[in-house]
Amino acid sequence: AHQWRGVIEEYRELLDIPDDTPAVTLREGGTPLVHSDWLSGLTGAQVWLKVEGCNPTGSFKDRGMTTALSVAVHEGAQAVVCASTGNTSASMAAYAAKAGVTPIVLVPEGKIAAGKMAQAVLHGSQVIQVRGNFDDCLRMAREMAWKYPVALVNSVNPARLEGQKTAAFEIVDFLGDAPDFHLLPVGNAGNISAYWLGYTQYAGLGRASKKPVMRGFQAEGAAPLVTGEPFPDPETRATAIRIGNPASWKLAEAARDESGGRFAAVSDAQILAAQKALASHDGVFVEPASAAGIAGLLAELEAGESYQGATVAITVTGHGLKDIATALEGLVLPDTVVDADVDAAAQAAGL
Ligand code: F0G
Repeated sequence: AHQWRGVIEEYRELLDIPDDTPAVTLREGGTPLVHSDWLSGLTGAQVWLKVEGCNPTGSFKDRGMTTALSVAVHEGAQAVVCASTGNTSASMAAYAAKAGVTPIVLVPEGKIAAGKMAQAVLHGSQVIQVRGNFDDCLRMAREMAWKYPVALVNSVNPARLEGQKTAAFEIVDFLGDAPDFHLLPVGNAGNISAYWLGYTQYAGLGRASKKPVMRGFQAEGAAPLVTGEPFPDPETRATAIRIGNPASWKLAEAARDESGGRFAAVSDAQILAAQKALASHDGVFVEPASAAGIAGLLAELEAGESYQGATVAITVTGHGLKDIATALEGLVLPDTVVDADVDAAAQAAGL
């Protein structure tokens, strides 16, 4: 029976990595594009969710990690390092385990969701917590890779974007053409850059007749691409995108400008409300940062923006189970307890 082979084997001829690189893969990619009946109804558009939480480690990072680890191992690396707000480290750790190399993780102290930390630890990482934010960690990771025998696998490593661009290929392959709009959360700005690379490549090959307008959404407290200035002290409940000085700043601005798109900010309250609404309307549970694109769409609709008649893709970047502490906060947990009696249960359920 056919099994999806992972993004390298599915798209190898379109990826700019050495031809003979053996794939370190967990069969990432091939994620569902789920029709959002809820958002399609609200907008009068066809809205599709690219559900990246369905990747092996629960986020889109796996697409770029298969390529980054494959190239690094092929070049002889025995250890890999990344700075992370959590998902990159979870993914790197899993692929390093698969490849048999040592993962070293630099994370901002106390700002990593528990699920992601568990992944990094169980996959065998050296987890180094840093008194600083993600931007400090990334500076350190770059320097570590200069000074010590360890390969850097953050998205400043070009192999990362090569893998991540396959999400755009999959969307076009499924829809039969590029969408009119693509909305997504933006933190370090690697993903929006990778999508643009993918859409541009497919249009160049004639596999799509157009490229989408790219709209990136950042958290209000960490919105350097919106204001045009770095945030020295980024702050947001959406810890995955708590980033003040994105590494792919220039590439992301190019994606915005070439596509006629824009960046906008959403508040933490809007992000958390969108996370809950998506879970209850569409059955898709994402982590807070992953709901930024949904929050952005809802805010635009409220401001009078129209998507009527368009095809819209929204990437939801990571699984809700990564960070249940934030999801449960402020919720009234079920406190209905009954005796072990079906009629009591049915009555309590309002049947
Ligand atoms: N959504 C999630 C769930 C993320 O983990 C990230 C980034 C983003 C969105 C933003 O993507 O950085 O390419 O603009 N997480 C990185 C990490 C920074 O370390 O896991 P981006």
